[in-house]
Amino acid sequence: MTELEDELRAIVGPAHVLVDGDLRAPYETDWTRRFTGSARCVVRPGTTGEVAAVVRACAAAGVPIVVQGGNTGLVGAGVPAGGEVLVSLTRLNRVEPVDAVEAQVTVDAGVTLERLQTHARAAGLDFGVDLAARSSATVGGMIATNAGGIRVLRHGSMRAQVAGLEAVLADGTVLTRLTGLAKDNTGYDMTQLLAGSEGTLAIVTRARLRLVPLLPARAVALVAVADTDAALDLLAAAREQLATLSAAEIFYPDGLELVRSYAKLPAPFGEPAGAYVVLECAGRTDPTDAVLEMLATSDAVIDATVASDRAGLDRLWSYREAHTEAISAAGVPTKLDVCVPLGELSALVTELPGTVAAVTPTARLIVFGHLNEGNLHLNVLDTGEHAEEVTDAVLRLVAAHRGSISSEHGVGRAKAPWLQLSRTAEEIAAMRRIKTALDPAGLLNPGVLLPA
Ligand code: MLT
Ligand code: ZN
Repeated sequence: MTELEDELRAIVGPAHVLVDGDLRAPYETDWTRRFTGSARCVVRPGTTGEVAAVVRACAAAGVPIVVQGGNTGLVGAGVPAGGEVLVSLTRLNRVEPVDAVEAQVTVDAGVTLERLQTHARAAGLDFGVDLAARSSATVGGMIATNAGGIRVLRHGSMRAQVAGLEAVLADGTVLTRLTGLAKDNTGYDMTQLLAGSEGTLAIVTRARLRLVPLLPARAVALVAVADTDAALDLLAAAREQLATLSAAEIFYPDGLELVRSYAKLPAPFGEPAGAYVVLECAGRTDPTDAVLEMLATSDAVIDATVASDRAGLDRLWSYREAHTEAISAAGVPTKLDVCVPLGELSALVTELPGTVAAVTPTARLIVFGHLNEGNLHLNVLDTGEHAEEVTDAVLRLVAAHRGSISSEHGVGRAKAPWLQLSRTAEEIAAMRRIKTALDPAGLLNPGVLLPA
């Protein structure tokens, strides 16, 4: 039992092998407090070479590994099921100087999104993905889950930003492809295969990331509309008229009330509305006039407030971005991140409360999300012992609307049993063949993504 720990101590140093329960605890429960499990120990390697040596030691001992970045994942993929060695990547935290000619940068997997943003902005560039967990979420975890966030509309999700990777395979082999060439048709694209593979095929240790122009002039509109259909009408107008549109988000009155009482925010409008849309434009010159013009011509607008100064932008965004924390403060939510074609969105939103209530009438459903992608974050509070039944009913409803059971959070452990609702038997079989080829012993993140 201790032989492996001794070997791990020799690789990373005794201070970075945590065996004591109190020291392991912060790594063993996810951010939502819904997923928890006991690790055999927590190991914190500081270099790719150490990650590779840790993997080789675990492989030789036949002990599975669970990989963790900032522990902000929402589908239970980064916490142990029980007995794994938990490999935390937060000590992999080097950033290289920005390559302004290529508009790229190479960073370690444990670098937080916020640090990456600060680093890119200091060089006059920006990173294309942004999300509310920016201060903790790490580059490696964001690649592993193909994270999305609030600017997918403009720049695509994480996969689109990754130009190359360094990763450790399940036998300790290190794959390095960090050149970031714009065109490179020399066989299988391992980078894109690993992006979104949720740590089941390899451990990402470093990444070559594309950067985008820094757009200093921003305008945000918080708009009150009647319902989801009106929100979609507004989105259509915004997409047609605003070339600088960079975000379009949605939330509803019950979410607004929760956020207001949690974050002590004033009511944004005199009268409550059926739904609220956040639109953001970003450019080199102030986009406020274009936003106001679009709002003035849209029949969907009941009321609107627009800001372009730093404090105003933060204030309007906080109505949307504080949802996750406000919901978690109210209880342990069953979080279901789904997306449907835009034409199905309104019907889904209408049918969801009845679907949840049919399982457990006392549950509370809070819906918000990324309007442009038809990506809703469904948060069900007070499910009691019915979390699995609620998940089943909701995911089946989403599938009936031709949607995906995981839009941007990944499948993890939370949704692995329902993967067949979104992928065919043939696709799942092909995924299993890839998994078996790269990780024949099933060492990396067992139980994540692919159903047992
Ligand atoms: C968000 O868009 O805020 C995140 O995906 C987090 C969440 O769903 O709670
Ligand atoms: Zn999201």
